[in-house]
Amino acid sequence: MNVKKNEFLSYVILDELRDNTFEEIYEKAESLYHDGKISETDLKHIATYIVGINQVFLQHGENNYTVRQATLEDVDALVDMVAFWASQGQNLPRKKSDIVRNIQSFAVCVKDRQVLGCACLYVYDSGLAEIRSLGVSPVVQRQGQGRAIVQFLLRRARKMFIDRVFVLTRSPEFFGKIGFKLTVKEKLPEKILKDCDNCPKKDKCDEIAFIYELNE
Ligand SMILES: CC(C)(COP(=O)(O)OP(=O)(O)OC[C@H]1O[C@@H](n2cnc3c(N)ncnc32)[C@H](O)[C@@H]1OP(=O)(O)O)[C@@H](O)C(=O)NCCC(=O)NCCS
Repeated sequence: MNVKKNEFLSYVILDELRDNTFEEIYEKAESLYHDGKISETDLKHIATYIVGINQVFLQHGENNYTVRQATLEDVDALVDMVAFWASQGQNLPRKKSDIVRNIQSFAVCVKDRQVLGCACLYVYDSGLAEIRSLGVSPVVQRQGQGRAIVQFLLRRARKMFIDRVFVLTRSPEFFGKIGFKLTVKEKLPEKILKDCDNCPKKDKCDEIAFIYELNE
């Protein structure tokens, strides 16, 4: 079957469904049912579709991990992941309160309800965005989770009509592999003003700047 993506999505993506989990969609249907707005048959149809979709993904998922929006239930795991990679000098440390306040900007990769990786998308005043706090558990490195988290955040950025996403990193091979292009920090004045100007490593910075153009 030749499914044309945009044609197809224009039928199925209603604003009410956009960015909702299956659980939330089912809850919405349940409340419509309880309010007498849809029939029991409609509710059963919705449940059957959700179960069907889940089964297809389960059968074809190679690693059975999933990337989703972070919630407050993930905070302790996020705090541990960020602290671990900060202790290794790979990421900046962040306070729990900062993570809680910015929870909507985080995505997590989970398997069997365990957080295996995370990152967040920070949007600057100018509309440029940065991927920060990216880290994957040391026990599951090189199994695709890092790429999946970054791709999730790039999709999120695209939905917000963000044009460019950058990262400052000591893992240049990884970002090169997943389609980011080398750039120079001087082209990222927002970052320089926000963090670099106050950084103790300002004059001997060992981070490399990469950028992803979403409109190319
Ligand atoms: C960088 C990091 C997030 C990558 O996550 P990951 O899950 O191990 O990476 P993936 O499996 O998704 O890798 C995607 C591709 O990049 C490659 N890759 C990943 N890390 C690499 C490295 N250090 N050197 C070379 N290639 C690398 C993988 O082999 C894979 O290549 P392929 O497409 O040919 O198979 C992870 O190593 C990490 O948590 N590092 C410590 C924290 C950190 O550096 N964060 C980034 C701060 S900006």
